[in-house]
Amino acid sequence: MKRLFQISTALVLATLMSTTILPEDAEAQSALYNYDESKVGPYTLPDPLVCADGTKIADAKAWREKRRPEILELFRTHVYGRSPAKLGKLVHELGAADSKALDGKATRQEIRIFLDGKKGGHCMTLLLYVPNGAKQPVPAFLGMNFEGNHTIDNDPGITITEQWTWDAKEKTSKLVKPNEATRGKSIGRWPLEVILARGYAVATVTRADVEPDYAAGWKHGLRAALSKVGANTQWKADDWGAVAAWGWGLSRALDYLETRGDVDAKRVALIGHSRLGKASLWAGAEDERFAMVISNNSGEGGAALARRNFGETVERINTSFPHWFCTNFKKYNQDVSALPVDAHELISLIAPRPVYVASAEEDKWADPKGEFLSAKHAEPVYQLLGKKGLGTSDWPPVNTPVGETIGYHVRTGKHDVTDYDWACYLGFADRHFKK
Ligand code: GCU
Repeated sequence: MKRLFQISTALVLATLMSTTILPEDAEAQSALYNYDESKVGPYTLPDPLVCADGTKIADAKAWREKRRPEILELFRTHVYGRSPAKLGKLVHELGAADSKALDGKATRQEIRIFLDGKKGGHCMTLLLYVPNGAKQPVPAFLGMNFEGNHTIDNDPGITITEQWTWDAKEKTSKLVKPNEATRGKSIGRWPLEVILARGYAVATVTRADVEPDYAAGWKHGLRAALSKVGANTQWKADDWGAVAAWGWGLSRALDYLETRGDVDAKRVALIGHSRLGKASLWAGAEDERFAMVISNNSGEGGAALARRNFGETVERINTSFPHWFCTNFKKYNQDVSALPVDAHELISLIAPRPVYVASAEEDKWADPKGEFLSAKHAEPVYQLLGKKGLGTSDWPPVNTPVGETIGYHVRTGKHDVTDYDWACYLGFADRHFKK
């Protein structure tokens, strides 16, 4: 009877949560999810070096030709969905360049990239800062931002763009122009001047430009724009979700960076926080032109092992964010052990390129240890390809970065991107890009 009561209370709570509590509110969710290491339970990870037919991968050629494509296909089919091929040509419009931005330290430019390949069509605005005075093309960090390009800095020259948002009260989509007061709101996550002073360009685009982030957001997003029937599309079980759409948009930003003489597109580090970290990992897996990938607190559906029962679960993420992944992913809500892949294999798809996974101690929802373990279990692939991975099998203490081609740290503090994180990423990028 007591058990029955517990189950029904949990069900009622879960229903309430899926409707009334903001999914971001991890603390409110904590009662229903496991945060106790001793209760994680056993699990068996798929071996990234054993093919579906049982063949053991013994060399780089077999990895490249057989296993890598197989894992990529499994992620497409079961997790992120299948994205369309890149468009034949890049269609874009250049905004004016301001060579005196940030007190003359950088040149700022906004570039409108038409993601459906039609002038005046579905457009994302790429904001680019290139440090002034460089003698050679510079490496760059490219990252998606959450709430608008203008939130990354106080620079008054950044355009505030309109974006589709969900009006929860009226239960409808609205095109909203963010308020001037939101300028610079996320400045703490984007230490522009520090990054530029280290000789890197910074490029960013906002998620809503590619695809607004709510269940019906795709109707105003890239996926509808690329579909023949737009908002009437019926998605197939392995069609792409919003995470893949964001990733696809990031690849188009790279298409553009390839056209510039002042940025070295062969040294672009893709960075993303949280859900946008999931998008960065997937974009880096799909698009091997990205020379480095950085996952900042990406958690479930990103760097954290899905099979580890700690923090957010597959069922929870598919319920809170039904639009992020492909429909097939929902099949694993009740049985994650049946998922043919796990996060360590996502990391392995980035090999032999440098990848950095970062966790935050208090960000239990994202399962910091599970993020470390996926980096660790990707290591055999890096080693097969002749790279040193993490160089440790133990979860390092806080604020102690480790690793060579696979970087990792868990810092003190909350779910966020901090100066400490950036200091680690800049050091990592220097080591790999400025050899
Ligand atoms: C929620 C979600 C996470 C996600 C995070 C974010 O907490 O459950 O999976 O990473 O939002 O993007 O901020």
